[in-house]
Amino acid sequence: MKILVTGGAGFIGSHTVIKLIESGHDVVIVDNLSNANPKVLDRIAQLSGVKPAFAEVDIRDREGLTKVCEQAAADGRGFDACIHFAGLKAVGESVAKPWEYYENNIGGTLTLLDVLRRHGCKNIIFSSSATVYGDPAVIPITEECPKGHCTNPYGQTKSMLEEIMMDMQKADPEWNIVLLRYFNPIGAHPSGLIGEDPNGIPNNLMPYITQVAVGKLAELGVFGDDYDTPDGTGVRDYIHVEDLAEGHVKALQAIESNCGLAVYNLGTGTGYSVLDVVKAFEKATGVAIPYSIKPRRAGDIAACYSDPAKAEAELGWKARYGIEDMCRDAWNWQSNNPDGYGE
Ligand code: NAD
Ligand code: WQD
Repeated sequence: MKILVTGGAGFIGSHTVIKLIESGHDVVIVDNLSNANPKVLDRIAQLSGVKPAFAEVDIRDREGLTKVCEQAAADGRGFDACIHFAGLKAVGESVAKPWEYYENNIGGTLTLLDVLRRHGCKNIIFSSSATVYGDPAVIPITEECPKGHCTNPYGQTKSMLEEIMMDMQKADPEWNIVLLRYFNPIGAHPSGLIGEDPNGIPNNLMPYITQVAVGKLAELGVFGDDYDTPDGTGVRDYIHVEDLAEGHVKALQAIESNCGLAVYNLGTGTGYSVLDVVKAFEKATGVAIPYSIKPRRAGDIAACYSDPAKAEAELGWKARYGIEDMCRDAWNWQSNNPDGYGE
């Protein structure tokens, strides 16, 4: 298939682009590089043997997106599908800059959807998030679990975009829309050549741990040890980014079989606490992670993990990597690239 990948220079997008190329798909990346480094394109080429076509275009730029679609058609074939990763994703920043998040994520996606349909592409896979379940009513979380209240604008953009796309698919059943709700993606390509490269001090657990391990940060703060979980620290469903990437390749099958609207959780089904992750990291890498217990972080929930059975039954997709693999590969990336893609 010929696939437009928005946000394809980012963390999850870059890993997915490699899997798409390896599966024989033709990829065009659109990214405004607001949270990515163009060096990733050379690394993708090094790993996959193909340098994907790239356009530095913002998804809010209707003219720019139109040109990308016209170019694809002029090259012989319009896009068969879009995998849509582009968006801002920092929870805390979204609380401080709600307008910017709604405008970028919702405004950008509305423009993208319109340009796609005007060019005859009504197939899209969307990066949604387990955050749409809020504090989940049922655990493990199935896709039937009602959506919950999102405590931050970032989460609201994911939830609202799901609703917008569901309404569009209802009104025009020619659309095939796959909403993938990711749990907590971590890890990196086993080569150590691509990985997660957050700006400034990381907000998320794994990049924080790897930066402590590499000596850039002194110690990990564990946000709360009084949750109703086995050891009192927050429990999450961490998933290797390689497995997540593979999930997108499998989701293209749903598109090909005219799925209409489909929703899948992408997780492993196993929950690990913060202290479990610290122990797994130490075991996998031999590097000690000093930590101290801090107050709870606002907006956090006690536990969140998936029931991934639907994706296995319908897409034949199942996570293959375990928590120690995720830690090993995250560390391989960080230790080989202490400053990420920077100098
Ligand atoms: P990322 O920031 O590494 O990738 C997003 C990419 O989109 C970046 O390369 C950025 O430059 C680009 N981008 C942002 N706004 C854009 C715009 N207006 N036009 C063009 N490009 C734009 O993030 P990621 O972790 O790879 O996440 C990918 C997607 O998955 C996002 O939509 C994110 O919300 C979603 N998601 C991420 C997680 C996670 O924990 N990483 C979990 C659930 C869902
Ligand atoms: C995991 C656990 C923290 C950092 C976020 C978004 C979610 C999704 C994935 C995009 C929690 C604890 C963390 C630290 C800690 N993103 N922690 N010390 O909050 O589950 O999910 O990323 O869609 O929407 O909210 O991930 O990695 O921030 O936290 O103790 O320095 O680690 O309290 O229990 P989270 P996380």
